[in-house]
Amino acid sequence: MREITPRKIMEMKGREKIAMVTAYDYPSALLADRAGIDIVFVGDSLGMVVYGEPNTLNVSMEQMVFHTRAVAKAVKRALVLADMPFGSYEVSVEEGVRNAMRLIQAGADAVKIEGGYDHKKLVKKLVRMGIPVMGHTGLTPQRYLRLGGYRLMGETEEEIEEILRDAKALEKAGAFAVVLEFVLADVAKLVTEEVSIPTIGIGAGPYVDGQVLVWHDILGLYERSPPFAKRYADLRNIIQLALENYREEVKEGKFPAKEHYWEFLDKDDFERKKRKALEKLEKEF
Ligand code: KIV
Repeated sequence: MREITPRKIMEMKGREKIAMVTAYDYPSALLADRAGIDIVFVGDSLGMVVYGEPNTLNVSMEQMVFHTRAVAKAVKRALVLADMPFGSYEVSVEEGVRNAMRLIQAGADAVKIEGGYDHKKLVKKLVRMGIPVMGHTGLTPQRYLRLGGYRLMGETEEEIEEILRDAKALEKAGAFAVVLEFVLADVAKLVTEEVSIPTIGIGAGPYVDGQVLVWHDILGLYERSPPFAKRYADLRNIIQLALENYREEVKEGKFPAKEHYWEFLDKDDFERKKRKALEKLEKEF
């Protein structure tokens, strides 16, 4: 069992901010874990930042299982959380349970679903089975068609009520935390005060129990990062430059250099072996 458990995440509320980041493959997850991140999250945002889709609606269970397996192999300390993709839990509780089990069997410690109130039966069932669940309200990208795009949430009385209802339903059903995405900071503060489970914000301001960001946004690897994401490095330019240098050195014959290859020290020895090999092949071809 990994050191950071859902129980530990719950205990961090009001004591220590929770740091969560997405990761989709082995080397990234290794770095996130070594950086002391609390939750390494295989988000369905991989559809956009890894697979180049315009949204997350086409992400499959197979993709989530493959990426979860790679991340889980790398992480020793952090909680590994896997996203349930669009269509994997909405049709029936049974289907949601089956798919959540696949992510747990791939190495996740917990699963995340979008929404709250609408899925309270599923959350209850999963928790009773021993599968920890994180909810997600505010901007829920899997519902962006209904929401009318990726927009700030919580401006109207109805939206405040819906966000609060989701969070309270999740708390009651036994979820261990809830993501609040792109909601007004006042609303995020209200939810954080109203529920006993940790709130993890993304574009939701500072009055929450933790923060989550997408790997490619933090590292400057994605061209369409949302306005609330902070870029901590500009890896796109670094990688671009490295690739251009590589191409140039190949074209100019500068790579590989002496230290990158091996050759016979005794050239006569090579000549003898070469002749024998060629003679043998001559008979065959
Ligand atoms: O898939 C994802 O990366 C997410 C975060 C934005 C919370 O759901």
